[in-house]
Amino acid sequence: TQMQEQEISDETARAVDAASRGCPAYRADPHPLYRHLRENAPVVRITPPHGVHSYLITRFEDAKTALADPRISKDMYAAIDAYRSIFGDSSIALDDNMLFADPPKHTRLRRIVSRAFVPRRIEALRPRVQELTDTLLDNCSTRQPVDLLSAFAFPLPLQVICELIGVPEEERQEVQQWCSVVARTGFSKKDKDRLAEAENTLREYFEVLIARKRKAPEDDLLSVLIQTSDEQESLTDGELLSTLWVLLFAGHKTTAYLIGNAVYTLLTHPEQLKQVIGSPDLLPNAIEEIIRFEGSVENATFRHALEDITIAGTLIPKGSLVQIAVTSANRDADAFENPDLFDIARPGVQSKHLSFGTGPHFCLGAPLARMEMQIALASLFRRFPDLSLATPADEAKWLQVPFPAFRGLTELPIVL
Ligand code: HEM
Repeated sequence: TQMQEQEISDETARAVDAASRGCPAYRADPHPLYRHLRENAPVVRITPPHGVHSYLITRFEDAKTALADPRISKDMYAAIDAYRSIFGDSSIALDDNMLFADPPKHTRLRRIVSRAFVPRRIEALRPRVQELTDTLLDNCSTRQPVDLLSAFAFPLPLQVICELIGVPEEERQEVQQWCSVVARTGFSKKDKDRLAEAENTLREYFEVLIARKRKAPEDDLLSVLIQTSDEQESLTDGELLSTLWVLLFAGHKTTAYLIGNAVYTLLTHPEQLKQVIGSPDLLPNAIEEIIRFEGSVENATFRHALEDITIAGTLIPKGSLVQIAVTSANRDADAFENPDLFDIARPGVQSKHLSFGTGPHFCLGAPLARMEMQIALASLFRRFPDLSLATPADEAKWLQVPFPAFRGLTELPIVL
């Protein structure tokens, strides 16, 4: 009836509004909202607080296709006006990297970094990741609740990525401070000024670091990247700087939030946590299920349409921004049986979830992220098998970002 239709569209309008703004109730549990969108409006136009419309794709099959669709571009320079008004000029220069490029530029940039990002280099990091993990856990107090995010989940991936790139230990503290400004800014004028300041400071730091490594190469990723680009003239200085930038940010926030989401999810499913503690071989699949069930990338998958494209009956006009809600796709009942059930033994989850994207932009750091997750969680539970939430689970503080690009906790008080 007309009235039912009216109700549905009102509810959809509310869902679209909440998806645009990320209101607090929705942050605590966005999954019912995404279910509503998948069922009623699988492609919708949202208007985040930065004011630039974007089309949000929420179903698994559509998401999977869109992530790899060459008509949906990752080259944000081409959508520069919309992009500049969201992120500002300084960010744009720093995004001259593979994450924001299409072929053939994407192919070239990714190939150069892949050459340095080989499994051998990642594997060689394993003992260092264990050491860094142990040191951070050594420094956690067992006498009072600890905020696991600031004490462990954030510093660990940053240390690891700095180790990989070749940022000397004594300079990491400062890098971390500026990174946290970049990672947490909003869209007000004041926020944008702070962001620009932090970006400039980090840019200057990396320019000095690049000059140092060029003179005196070491056994690290940055030295290899410099050498490759000097020999083959294939990375410009700007591309080199922005490649460091993408490694630093893609490899840091995502993993940090995921460690927090993992600990929270396991503590709120204590019988499954007990199984993991009892049989550590269950951990790798449990981690994949955590990434599916409560992944850290929500819809930070910015793209734009190179032509008019129709998805699930909705026209996305040429030039529009597009975001793929990975968080929603991973809970689609058409792709996963009982999608809202957390099941560490779920078969085949690793090859199916979309948390690392899919297609040409599939996460380059996935093997590193998986290794870090395994070491971080195994060490934490081995050392503190009785750990518990210090505050009630339903009072968890989920990230209130200006729009829901990432999903994570802002703090996680734990009694170790
Ligand atoms: C790309 C997720 C950790 C480096 C991506 C994409 C996703 C993702 C969804 C694709 C984005 C898109 O298609 O728009 C994650 C998650 C992580 C993680 C959930 C942690 C759990 C890392 C780490 C690194 C890294 C540790 C590196 C040190 C990259 C890079 C790309 C990327 C370089 C761009 C690849 C390309 O454009 O070809 N990541 N990531 N990520 N990630 Fe990750």
